[in-house]
Amino acid sequence: MLPMKSTLLPIQILLSIFSPTLRHRFEENAIWEKDYPEIKALMSSDDKRECHQQFKDIQDPQLHSDLIGLSIDQRLIRLGYPVQRINVTTEDGYILGIYRIPFSPKSPLVEGVVKKPVILQHGLGGNGLCFLIQDSSRNLAMMLADYGFDVYVSNFRGSSYSQGHIDPDMTPDNWRYWDFSFHEMGIFDVPAIIEAVTDITKQESVYYVGHSMGAAALTILLSERPEYNSRIATAFFLAPAVYLGHTGLYLHAFVRSVNYYQYTFNKFLGGKLEMERLVEILLGSSPNYRCSAEEYACEICANMFNLLAGYDGPQTNYTQVGQIFDAFPVTMSTKTLTHFFQMIKTNTFCQFNHGFKVINRLRYGRRTPTCYNMENISSPLLVFWGANDFVVKPQDIGKTVSHIPKAALKECIKVDSEYFTHLDFIFAKDANTLVYKKIVDVMLNATYG
Ligand SMILES: *[C@@H]1O[C@H](CO)[C@@H](O)[C@H](O)[C@H]1NC(C)=O
Ligand SMILES: *[C@@H]1O[C@H](CO)[C@@H](O)[C@H](O)[C@H]1NC(C)=O
Ligand SMILES: *[C@@H]1O[C@H](CO)[C@@H](O)[C@H](O)[C@H]1NC(C)=O
Ligand SMILES: *[C@@H]1O[C@H](CO)[C@@H](O)[C@H](O)[C@H]1NC(C)=O
Repeated sequence: MLPMKSTLLPIQILLSIFSPTLRHRFEENAIWEKDYPEIKALMSSDDKRECHQQFKDIQDPQLHSDLIGLSIDQRLIRLGYPVQRINVTTEDGYILGIYRIPFSPKSPLVEGVVKKPVILQHGLGGNGLCFLIQDSSRNLAMMLADYGFDVYVSNFRGSSYSQGHIDPDMTPDNWRYWDFSFHEMGIFDVPAIIEAVTDITKQESVYYVGHSMGAAALTILLSERPEYNSRIATAFFLAPAVYLGHTGLYLHAFVRSVNYYQYTFNKFLGGKLEMERLVEILLGSSPNYRCSAEEYACEICANMFNLLAGYDGPQTNYTQVGQIFDAFPVTMSTKTLTHFFQMIKTNTFCQFNHGFKVINRLRYGRRTPTCYNMENISSPLLVFWGANDFVVKPQDIGKTVSHIPKAALKECIKVDSEYFTHLDFIFAKDANTLVYKKIVDVMLNATYG
């Protein structure tokens, strides 16, 4: 396997540079706005002062240091929450690790009272830990458990919690393991999780909260397998990464030439992009330990975080930046990333473009990939967006919302915070009052189902 791969690599590179079939153009309607966001990576002296102050204000330093480096289950246990791991097998053989919080110390099980299930689905480059980083009263997973919901913190295929496969050859060392994008997460992972939750709870429908790619995956499921619409009581889309033509990600050069190198890129690196490594190179080994230290956090790590997430000083809890680097960015498949690049480049919401017309024709029966048809979505949906989100820009939210059938789109809510960014949906210190409270209210009142 390996020697063959290395001899093939130069050929692949040549192919990808010179092959005319690879050079065919994507759809014509690519939109390029010269609308680069202002990236405020460097903290002002006020931000730094605030950072040092927050470290002085930590109320429970022992707890703060205990939490560093903990996994989803360890973290829940340390904070006094029950947790149960559920292994879910998808139709194509991937084994996902889902963490259930069946109740909470504030909302114990009561005989005869049924808790409504909620699935939490993370975005690209994240894992389920994202929903648990904030203080227990401020993170979405524990907050929902406290309000009496049965919470399922999910991890997509490829995340470190979900790297199993029924085929013993399909290990993360095998590039074939990584041959998936959010399309497979949508049509295989999400329904498998919904079925598993239904088996456990015996309830007809579930609530679903998806951040970014987590929302895109459900959109794909509801479009491609419309029978799942009746299984979603209400879905909450936090900055859904559906249309992305206006994204301000500083990757324009890569994105524009994606069709020239994608084939090589997807095989190269064994199909995966280990973002933890990149963070380690930039911040040194064990960034969570280092960035949880005051000097390191306030001088280096917070700036790195701003670069990744966009600047939102007023909503940053600097003492948590180290722990954030445990949940983001983590390993992703190169195919997922190139699929996103294709969506950015073409400003469309379509299946993966294999680059070769022949392969596209085999897979989709046409030269270009089939696009997702959102017209049959009927689950009640609420969309939340942030004004300072440079990943999913307001223009793109506008396009996404215009494609969701009117009967399904219940509310489209701009978060009431000036600098609200893409990652603020999970890491902002007031996300609980700015976003989660609304989600909880809609669920508690069963406003839409
Ligand atoms: C910030 O995080 C620390 C723990 O790292 C916590 O003690 C503190 O309450 C948090 N502050 C806010 C405003 O969320
Ligand atoms: C789920 O899978 C993990 C990792 O493969 C394994 O350690 C664990 O025992 C499994 N749990 C259950 C409940 O099957
Ligand atoms: C949407 O629904 C219509 C009418 O029920 C059906 O003909 C069409 O095939 C559906 N489209 C998709 C993408 O499932
Ligand atoms: C929904 O529930 C909240 C409390 O959880 C309440 O304050 C609010 O008025 C309710 N809204 C509706 C429309 O019933």
